[in-house]
Amino acid sequence: MEVIIQDGYEAISRQGAQIVAQTLNAKPDAVLGLATGSTPLGLYKELVRMNQEEGLDFSQVTTFNLDEYVGLAKQHTQSYHYFMHENLFQHINISEHNIHIPSGTTDNYPAFCESYEQRIVECGGIDLQVLGIGSDGHIAFNEPGSSLSSRTRIKTLTSQTIEDNARFFESPDEVPAYSITMGVGTILEARKIILLANGANKAAAVAGAIEGPVTSMCTASALQMHRDTIFLLDKEAAGKLQMTTYYQWIQDKMPGAP
Ligand code: PGA
Repeated sequence: MEVIIQDGYEAISRQGAQIVAQTLNAKPDAVLGLATGSTPLGLYKELVRMNQEEGLDFSQVTTFNLDEYVGLAKQHTQSYHYFMHENLFQHINISEHNIHIPSGTTDNYPAFCESYEQRIVECGGIDLQVLGIGSDGHIAFNEPGSSLSSRTRIKTLTSQTIEDNARFFESPDEVPAYSITMGVGTILEARKIILLANGANKAAAVAGAIEGPVTSMCTASALQMHRDTIFLLDKEAAGKLQMTTYYQWIQDKMPGAP
């Protein structure tokens, strides 16, 4: 695990986008795992800029999104389909055929979940997974209590997540109670993972994920079991970590490492 603490949101967004760009430069047909929510918006904005101004090429890229609300059609303005097209896909040269987002309106969820997992395998697995973190420590919609080896499935949202996400809806009652989400086990199979977090409301979850015990009560803590995860944090999100001096020391010493 690598922990990088930056001054602010812009810096973590830029660094996240640079890691995506490095992945695509090394492997133009890379498979990206993508997240929604407020956190990755800056990263997506930077990727759009890199695509439009620097020619960062998405023509051979395949994407898999982490999750979707159950019951929201693709056209719903709060669906993650809509979010991804609005904030990234419609602005870059990605092929529609290569975009995968879990369906919130399938009539057979178990079959869809299985086929989603299969499709990831058929595409060669996820090279780089982008993650945010919930204030309850979730990654994707793997709420506390989710098995750390879970696969894509239906998950009931916690009242905390419903409250957190109500800001996007007219009222908390409109937030769907269920999601379809990649599992923790699915996420851990990605070759490389970056988790972005900003703001003081993420500090407790971030501390639990990095320095707490590995526990299904904070599913982001499962990333301690992953061998190539980078946490990109702003100062506020890093505010409850105990070992920040050491994380900074590591960054300072990195150029001279043998
Ligand atoms: P946010 O959500 O980026 O909107 O804070 C993160 C998450 O729930 O994973």
